[in-house]
Amino acid sequence: MTKKLTVVGAGLMGSGIAQVAAQAGWDVTLRDLDEAATGRGIAGIRASLGKFATKGTISQEDADAALARITPTSDLEAAADADIVVEAVFESIDVKRDVFKALDKICKDGAILATNTSAIPITQIAAVTARPEAVVGTHFFSPVPMMKLCELVRGLKTSDATLDASRTFAEELGKTCIVVNRDVAGFVTTRLIAALVVEAVKLVENGVVSAEDLDIACRLGFGHAMGPLATTDLTGVDILAHAARNIYTETADPKFFPPELLQRMVAAGDLGRKTGKGFYSY
Ligand SMILES: NC(=O)c1ccc[n+]([C@@H]2O[C@H](COP(=O)([O-])OP(=O)(O)OC[C@H]3O[C@@H](n4cnc5c(N)ncnc54)[C@H](O)[C@@H]3O)[C@@H](O)[C@H]2O)c1
Repeated sequence: MTKKLTVVGAGLMGSGIAQVAAQAGWDVTLRDLDEAATGRGIAGIRASLGKFATKGTISQEDADAALARITPTSDLEAAADADIVVEAVFESIDVKRDVFKALDKICKDGAILATNTSAIPITQIAAVTARPEAVVGTHFFSPVPMMKLCELVRGLKTSDATLDASRTFAEELGKTCIVVNRDVAGFVTTRLIAALVVEAVKLVENGVVSAEDLDIACRLGFGHAMGPLATTDLTGVDILAHAARNIYTETADPKFFPPELLQRMVAAGDLGRKTGKGFYSY
């Protein structure tokens, strides 16, 4: 029987997750607040599948079949028969808790309730449901069709069965999983990048090295595909500053305190690629 996935949130991440699941043969429902939002999601998926087909990575037939497996909807009730639901709405604890409260009422027994949050503790989301054992973090990376990692995050009450089912799901989508045993602030990947970026910004701020040379050091010295400052520009200077501050707030570990330069760049609107200026100009 074809397995059913509902993705809640048809933005950048939700549409990417819907796409790779449909390509893996899942029957997908893509839910957002209105038709305009689901329409944008579907248009993005069509464009992405089209690019793969043009490059010859997949056949046009497979691209069409994947698109046909995705049903857009604005009705959350569509999640009633889903085997797994992945939530990818805005990174707001209030919005996410509202979604999970509703899913808890709608979803069938045995469904896996997953969140794509980058940083919100899974336990805080699971606590609004009557089935915290079925709630898990499935942290995919952007762009989802290209990036191979999925960080599986346990909340305090996530069961082994839920973790195993979410791993099987992510692997079917072609991802390699790492397991985060406790939902600490920033999980594993955001902690690592926050620590690296904070130290990198301090070295640049103190005049020890230029941004360009620091990135060269990481690329040629450590084999990183991109230096941490170019990565910050791509992700958003504000996003990284916010992530570092959240980890600092939860851990009180000074190594995560956002350096002054990072804070001033946010204040000045130098947010990276999206504003045309960050550590580099675009
Ligand atoms: N962007 C990234 O690089 C990235 C990477 C990893 C994880 N994440 C996480 O993934 C999640 C989604 O991020 P994104 O970048 O796709 O955001 P986005 O802003 O592109 O999309 C969010 C979508 O959620 C929709 N939405 C809001 N409330 C909703 C509701 N109640 N029901 C249905 N849809 C609703 C919005 O209309 C929007 O289309 C966030 O938790 C984010 O932290 C993002």
